[in-house]
Amino acid sequence: MADITTFANRLRKNARHWAKWAKRLSITCYRIYDRDIPEFPLAVDFYENRVHLQEFETGWKQEEEEYNAWVEEVRNATAEVLELPLEAISFKRRARQRGLSQYEKTGTQGDDFVVTEHGHKFIVNLEQYLDTGLFLDHRNTRRMVQERAAGKRFLNLFAYTGSFTVYAAGGGAVSSTTVDMSNTYQDWSKRNFELNGLDLKRHKLVRADVFVFLEQAVKERQQFDLIVMDPPSFSNSKKMSGVLDVQRDHPHLIDQCLKLLSAQGQLFFSNNLRSFELEQDKIAACNLREISAQTVPEDYRNKKIHRCWLIEPGRP
Ligand SMILES: C[S@@+](CC[C@H](N)C(=O)[O-])C[C@H]1O[C@@H](n2cnc3c(N)ncnc32)[C@H](O)[C@@H]1O
Repeated sequence: MADITTFANRLRKNARHWAKWAKRLSITCYRIYDRDIPEFPLAVDFYENRVHLQEFETGWKQEEEEYNAWVEEVRNATAEVLELPLEAISFKRRARQRGLSQYEKTGTQGDDFVVTEHGHKFIVNLEQYLDTGLFLDHRNTRRMVQERAAGKRFLNLFAYTGSFTVYAAGGGAVSSTTVDMSNTYQDWSKRNFELNGLDLKRHKLVRADVFVFLEQAVKERQQFDLIVMDPPSFSNSKKMSGVLDVQRDHPHLIDQCLKLLSAQGQLFFSNNLRSFELEQDKIAACNLREISAQTVPEDYRNKKIHRCWLIEPGRP
C-alpha cells in the first residue's frame, strides 16, 4: 500500500495553492486534488467548510478489511490536513458504469446545506446521492450563460438542480423553461429558485423527457434565445421510452435545439463522455465552436472533465 504521507503532503501543497486562487476569485466551492497521484485515485472538493471526497474505481483488487482501513486512513489524512472534523469529510466510491447511477440514492440521508457561488445560492447534499447538487466543473459555463442572459428567453435541458437557470435569471433572462424528467431534481430546482428569489411564473419548471419536450416545442414553434443542453452520457430511466446515448443521439438533440433557437440565438452543448466525438456532418447547418478551454475550470487537473460547444444557427 502506498504511503499515506505522499497523499497528505500533496493535498497540503494543493490546498494552500488553491485557497489563494479561490480567495482571489471569491470562490468557495472548488477542487483541490484531482487524481494527482495514481496510487490515490481521489477527487477532493471543498464545498465551503465541508469536503466531498470521491474515490474512482481503478479495478485494483483488495481484501475488504484492507480496503476499509485504507479509506479510514484517507479520510483521517484529509481531515487532518484541511483542519476539519472527520464528520465534515463525505466519502464516496464512484464505480465505473455499474453500481449506483447518479440518480440513485446512496442510502445515507446526509443533510442539505447552502453554498454560495458568484452571489447565487445553491442547496447541496454531500451524502444522499452520488452527485452533490452542484457540478463544480461547470462553474465557468454558468457564468458565461449569465453574461449572455439579459433580455433572453432561456431553455435549460437536462437541468438537474437548475443551477444554469439561477445564473440566467441572475443575468436578466426575461423567462425560462427548466426541463428534467426527475421529480427529485425538479423539486430541488424549485427550492434553488425560491432560495434565489426567482419569479416562478416567469421561470417555469417542466418535468418531462427531453426528447418528448423537444418534439412538442418544435411542433408548437416555441422560440428561445439561449439554450443550455448538458445531457448525461447514458440514461435508461423507466420514465423515458428509449435509452439516451449521447454519442448516438447528439445530432438529433442539437438539430431540435437549432429549430427552437431565434436567429441570433445560442446553444451551449456539453457532455462528459470521455470518448465523445461531435459528428458535425450529421448536424444541420450551424456555426459551431468548441469552448472547452474556457469552460473547464483551472482547478480541474483533468481537462477532459467535460467538453463544451457554443452553437449558433446559420451556415458552418
Ligand atoms: C448530468 S445531469 C445534468 C447536469 C446539469 N446540466 C448541471 O450542470 O447541473 C443529467 C440530468 O439529466 C436528467 N435526465 C436524464 N435523462 C433525461 C431525459 N431523457 N429527459 C429529461 N431529463 C433527463 C437527469 O434526471 C439529471 O438530472
